[in-house]
Amino acid sequence: MTPRAALDLPPTTVADPREAPSLRWAVASPGHIATQFTDTLHRATASRVVAVASRSEDRARDFAAGHGVERSFGSLPTMLEAGGFDAVYIASPHSEHHAMARAVLEAGYPVLLEKAFAMDAGQAADLIDLARRRGLFLMEAMWSRFLPRFDVVRQVLAAGTIGELVSLRASHGQHLPFDPSHRLHAPELGGGALLDLGIYPLSFAQMVMGDLVDVLATGTLTPAGVDETVHVLASSRRHPRARAQLETTLAAQATNDAAILGTEGRIVLSDMFFAPGEVLVELHDGRRGTASDPVVEGDGLAYEAAEAARRISAGDLESPLMTWQDTLSVMTAADAVREAVTAAETRNQTPKGETR
Ligand SMILES: NC(=O)c1ccc[n+]([C@@H]2O[C@H](COP(=O)([O-])OP(=O)(O)OC[C@H]3O[C@@H](n4cnc5c(N)ncnc54)[C@H](OP(=O)(O)O)[C@@H]3O)[C@@H](O)[C@H]2O)c1
Repeated sequence: MTPRAALDLPPTTVADPREAPSLRWAVASPGHIATQFTDTLHRATASRVVAVASRSEDRARDFAAGHGVERSFGSLPTMLEAGGFDAVYIASPHSEHHAMARAVLEAGYPVLLEKAFAMDAGQAADLIDLARRRGLFLMEAMWSRFLPRFDVVRQVLAAGTIGELVSLRASHGQHLPFDPSHRLHAPELGGGALLDLGIYPLSFAQMVMGDLVDVLATGTLTPAGVDETVHVLASSRRHPRARAQLETTLAAQATNDAAILGTEGRIVLSDMFFAPGEVLVELHDGRRGTASDPVVEGDGLAYEAAEAARRISAGDLESPLMTWQDTLSVMTAADAVREAVTAAETRNQTPKGETR
């Protein structure tokens, strides 16, 4: 068999997170991801978490003691009043993002806000407008965008290596059995597959194709009324020949991979496409190349924290890697998906011959 010719992929332009300026971070809502963010920050960047605010003084104190954080507060307002930090990372359930980010911006601090940025595009636009008026940095913590392998994907696409875009497929599903006490299953906390897991395929498609239009979606809801499984088809004006096909679910372990197909070849991100890993580019002429992120468990969050630290230190209001327009575009697509899923569900539940 003839060995395939090698294709040299561009080296990543993403700098080592350890080289980013050191910031003093405050963390609001110390749950699962805030724990990972704090530990990663301390292990893999020059920045420190110096303050934490929970809704409970005890939880804040325990978190501070367990993660080397100097000061703890029993509410966000008391932490904002005390000050002594450069920026605030918000890691609450989706339903709380808008009010908490508003409070932090009103207090005059830059914000790194967990994905999904808000419940809908209206809330997102309001926060962006406030950040613009106050002259403050605001960024969605869509950590995948800042990974070296996403940088390589952007470079390969910009170079036109795979030709004209024809198709994009991305999947994110986890088997998360129904648990009424978990935020994922709670409508009032912004639960559901779409905002938690589906936001990754949506954001990936938006990064590659631009604004998603002509959004078609179907899905199922859990008994509690949050979306359980969602399938999306979408187009974009920037790549009129291409279609995106996205899936997300809370009910099954999906393949969690992504592929971008072009007229000259394809880009494949296997194994949790949204996390650190490999990029494979295969061309129709037989050439093939790979690039890999350094994979250190949990350290993927260091890249977003480093980007925020660089931008805040430079006095920028947003990052070119996850612009305000990108966030608005993703949230607008998510709104269109939700609307289509709800409409389809209503049709399915309406007995034949009846109209609603
Ligand atoms: N980047 C990633 O890889 C990643 C991974 C998972 C989740 N996330 C995102 O991070 C955010 C948080 O997710 P998580 O998994 O860390 O959630 P979590 O473990 O439930 O933690 C969220 C924290 O928010 C606080 N909170 C504030 N208001 C609340 C309310 N009304 N109800 C419940 N908790 C409230 C709670 O802390 P106190 O009660 O102590 O204040 C809670 O511990 C979400 O936006 C999610 O999409 C990102």
